[in-house]
Amino acid sequence: MYFYGTTGVNKKGHLEIGGVDAVELAESFGTPLYVYDVALIRERARGFKLTFEEQNVKAQVAYASKAFSTVAMVQLAEEEGLSLDVVSGGELFTALKAGFPAEKIHFHGNNKSRQELEMAIDNGIGCIVIDNFYEIELLKSICTEKQPKEINVLLRVTPGIEAHTHDYILTGQEDSKFGFDLQNGQAEQALTEALEYPYFHVLGLHCHIGSQIFETTGFLLAAQKIVEKLAEWKNKYAFQTQVLNLGGGFGIRYTKEDEPIAPSQYVSEIIKEVKSLNEQYDLTMPEIWIEPGRSLVGDAGVTLYKTGSSKDVPGVRRYLAVDGGMSDNIRPALYQAKYEAVLANKPLAQAKETVSIAGKCCESGDMLIWDLPLPESEDEDILAVFCTGAYGYSMANNYNRIPRPPVVFVENGKASLVVKRESYEDLLRLDLPLK
Ligand code: LLP
Repeated sequence: MYFYGTTGVNKKGHLEIGGVDAVELAESFGTPLYVYDVALIRERARGFKLTFEEQNVKAQVAYASKAFSTVAMVQLAEEEGLSLDVVSGGELFTALKAGFPAEKIHFHGNNKSRQELEMAIDNGIGCIVIDNFYEIELLKSICTEKQPKEINVLLRVTPGIEAHTHDYILTGQEDSKFGFDLQNGQAEQALTEALEYPYFHVLGLHCHIGSQIFETTGFLLAAQKIVEKLAEWKNKYAFQTQVLNLGGGFGIRYTKEDEPIAPSQYVSEIIKEVKSLNEQYDLTMPEIWIEPGRSLVGDAGVTLYKTGSSKDVPGVRRYLAVDGGMSDNIRPALYQAKYEAVLANKPLAQAKETVSIAGKCCESGDMLIWDLPLPESEDEDILAVFCTGAYGYSMANNYNRIPRPPVVFVENGKASLVVKRESYEDLLRLDLPLK
């Protein structure tokens, strides 16, 4: 088994995370349970930030809070000196309630409502990433009414690169719901409209080419395409970008098939390319912003489940069910995402059989892991599924009226509950009886 971060095996032969026994965590907090290795989140955050600092490049590392947004996580992001990317009124509300400095919040989204934009402007957030012409008009109408002081905006562009996990396809015509197309003139039109509008301060451009990307090529190509345009726009409109935001998408290791590269390598290759492009086109070096989500929290999260029923399909497979499933981790059902797991009460025991881990939801597609080698399992073993820190809790749902699990942060031998377990009463919180 491959352990990382503070995860390892303790003297009792149990899985340990952040110096805390995982079996004891399951006993104290119940299962399913999301456990986060706080030291690993800090290490990842520092990994991204340090390279910018070492190379003396002005930068912002904005945590894409959609990966895992809770008050405690936002506070941890602040402790680590990160900025924050939010994509909805709910994420913005969480950030503000957590006391995150508004000026370090960036607001994304392809269909922000008037109410969400007003909330952002009223709270003086750092910048709004404008996604489309409709949003420009909406913002203009809000500014006319509110007459705020200038608001910082980035324009989200689609550079015509589709980054897939391992390969890159250059698309002539970008087919995406996000952003202004860089090639067909939309981005240029958006820029001229934004530059003319007195309430906007155009900080620069943003792009996000995809997620779970294992190479730097896509980021470098995106930077190239954007800087080429910036060179054109400098001559035409005397526009010099202050910020180049290259988004998130840095890949992580879910299983042994994944081969991620270090945050420092992504960052140094991006810096090198942006520097050389700016020299080539005689432009001033912009601040570089990035927005990692998954790569900050993904491998820091482990979900603990209790095993329950099992079913043999002779000659085919054995299903072993756990007390959670697609309600706490929808990624296998949605993306055929793959995970590794061990029994937390005997992580080093020799594998004896291959089982398929089923969830408890009323749906055949509710499978967490197919064909997992496991030691002989007993009733109420604790199954630890690794790498569930990103888009696990944040995409959790109440299908079958299953309450969402709690979240525990572990660090230096201490466990602290940061999200309570949802109760049955919580499930009925919004229900009203038939009149
Ligand atoms: N910035 C923007 C504008 C984004 O749209 C995203 C992710 C990120 C940053 C962060 O990307 P990351 O570093 O986490 O890859 N639910 C899917 C992932 C959706 C990602 C959406 N946008 C999953 O579970 O894989």
